[in-house]
Amino acid sequence: MKVVAYSIKSFEKEFLAKANQKKHDITLISNPLGPETAFYAEGKDAVVVFTNDNVSAPVVHQLADMGIKYIATRSAGTDHIDKQAAAERGIKLANVPVYSPQAIAEHTVALALSLSRQVVKAEEHSLHFDFRQDELIGFNFHGKTVGLVGLGHIGQATAAIFNGLGCKVIGYDAFLTESLPSIEMVSFAELLMQSDIISLHAPLTTDTHHLINASSLALMKDGVMLLNTSRGGLLNTRDVIHGLNTGKVGYLGIDVYENEKGLFFEDHEHDEVKDTLLMDLMQHPNVLVTPHQAYLTKEALQQIADQTIKNLDLWQLKKCVGNACVCSKNCRVVEAEKAVVKS
Ligand code: NAI
Repeated sequence: MKVVAYSIKSFEKEFLAKANQKKHDITLISNPLGPETAFYAEGKDAVVVFTNDNVSAPVVHQLADMGIKYIATRSAGTDHIDKQAAAERGIKLANVPVYSPQAIAEHTVALALSLSRQVVKAEEHSLHFDFRQDELIGFNFHGKTVGLVGLGHIGQATAAIFNGLGCKVIGYDAFLTESLPSIEMVSFAELLMQSDIISLHAPLTTDTHHLINASSLALMKDGVMLLNTSRGGLLNTRDVIHGLNTGKVGYLGIDVYENEKGLFFEDHEHDEVKDTLLMDLMQHPNVLVTPHQAYLTKEALQQIADQTIKNLDLWQLKKCVGNACVCSKNCRVVEAEKAVVKS
């Protein structure tokens, strides 16, 4: 299959090469996909993208006009792809449904512990040979209540670590029906009211957009720790900044930011105009921002590359990609419907 892969970082190349074994003819480019870069897909069968690529309806139509049949994203989240437009043009979509949920869970807990124990500030002070402890008082996680929103692969992996730290873990999931060991299921409002630490692990959808806003913040404990390694759009950043200013939010750890597209994954140090909302957020000493790196472990990178190549392999064999299918109407459902009509 002829493929162009967008937004490729140099560190991804070895993992993709190992997974591909020269089966597919893949052009790796560092540029993100967008209206100006779509032309690189000319003459290809498939496009491989990442979370901050522009896979909106106009770009999907551009790709379709060039004959693209498949789009595979190297991520679990698919909120960056206009699935309806892809369905209209008969383009099949695939993601990486599960890859090392522990990578994201461990980063979430790393943010939590670093915030509580002032690790960044301690390092900054130590580099200046300032070894005082006055500003470094943290809190024990043992005995605290952690509320997890979204109890899928990552939510459950995060629960296991917080359980190990001796926390009481409560959870809310809009769709989960089964009970989970060591997680007490509560309503969203109860979770907001009871938690000392709240961590978000739900996908970005119309339902979860700005799930954390002025009204949900009002229900939280004063000084709550908020963690978001899911998608930036789950937080209303302005409302959270207000919460930081009033002391409602005691700590904020985010790996994702609602306006990160075109910003994260690149060096913007010398930009004349910087994102003022993010600057406002980051000037708070109790805020820790990492650049969408929660997934970034060697294990996860290899699993992402392996699944992406597997998706291309299956498409080449004219087969459905199974669990990785994220077409607006899942191909397996369509096939089942076709079978019913035939019989
Ligand atoms: P998953 O699909 O296994 O779990 C998501 C859970 O959220 C499901 O149980 C679902 O029922 C629940 N959910 C959906 N809508 C909800 C709502 N309105 N309220 C409460 N719960 C809701 O997905 P997984 O693998 O756990 O990933 C979660 C999210 O993490 C992804 O959608 C992605 O946005 C983000 N992510 C971030 C990464 C990073 O590097 N920062 C890397 C990988 C994923």
